Amino acid sequence: MQQIITEHLNAQEAKNKCPICYISLANSLGEHIRKEHGEEEFRQTVLKAKESGMADPEIGSLFGITFKQLEEIITEAYGVNISMLKKRKKVKYWAPKNFKEENTTVWSFKQRGNWATHDGRYRGNWSPYIPRNVILKYSKPGDVVLDYFVGGGTAAVEAKLLGRSCIARDINPAAIGLTKENLNFTPPEVLFERHPIYEPEVSTGDARDLSDIPDNSIDLICAHPPYAGIINYSSKVEGDLSKLSIDEFFNKMRKN
Ligand SMILES: C[S@@+](CC[C@H](N)C(=O)[O-])C[C@H]1O[C@@H](n2cnc3c(N)ncnc32)[C@H](O)[C@@H]1O
Repeated sequence: MQQIITEHLNAQEAKNKCPICYISLANSLGEHIRKEHGEEEFRQTVLKAKESGMADPEIGSLFGITFKQLEEIITEAYGVNISMLKKRKKVKYWAPKNFKEENTTVWSFKQRGNWATHDGRYRGNWSPYIPRNVILKYSKPGDVVLDYFVGGGTAAVEAKLLGRSCIARDINPAAIGLTKENLNFTPPEVLFERHPIYEPEVSTGDARDLSDIPDNSIDLICAHPPYAGIINYSSKVEGDLSKLSIDEFFNKMRKN
């Protein structure tokens, strides 16, 4: 099965033949796997297709699942909602090319930005241009930046590159794992010449309980809350507010 899927069983072939038992299919591949091989095998085959780089719409039509169902399978398997299952590529450059700070209230970026370790792997992560602009505008080197919804670590990576100290938290341990992975770099010496580099303090934590952080110790909060139920970031993490509507989210945030 793995071989067929990774060798680009192209969707066309899989429409006609089951990659597990190789029999010719009378009904859809998804239906066949569920019925003959069971739910677990179905989920594993979907994940294999995703790992092989097959596009989401193609997976959807091959297995008869919606985008939401595909997200659920991935989130369940990886503990976190990620759009790419492949590891990130090598760093090509450390800062955006021709960067100019935003000066108006409407910010628009031609590309999402893939300098340093940034990529679109963590679903719904923000473009690194956003924390870069916020950090540059509202803090100075050596200041302490807090992101208590750090997700895959975009703001923490920017804080590190820009010589800010950073406290980075997320309720989901798998997101914290991704953040640590994304922070696992040594910036080039030219950045050390401009300002010291501070290694962010990264830990699992609930944004509603910051009681361990001393008063007046944070210079800037640069945090990106979840999307009011549009993107679910985990399947079972207690305290994850991403499944809530806007009103429920504010109620829960106010409670502590
Ligand atoms: C929109 S994402 C942040 C994405 C991040 N800016 C990035 O670029 O990767 C919102 C994050 O809030 C986290 N979250 C949800 N409830 C939380 C809570 N109670 N405390 C801390 N983090 C929480 C989710 O796990 C998710 O990673």
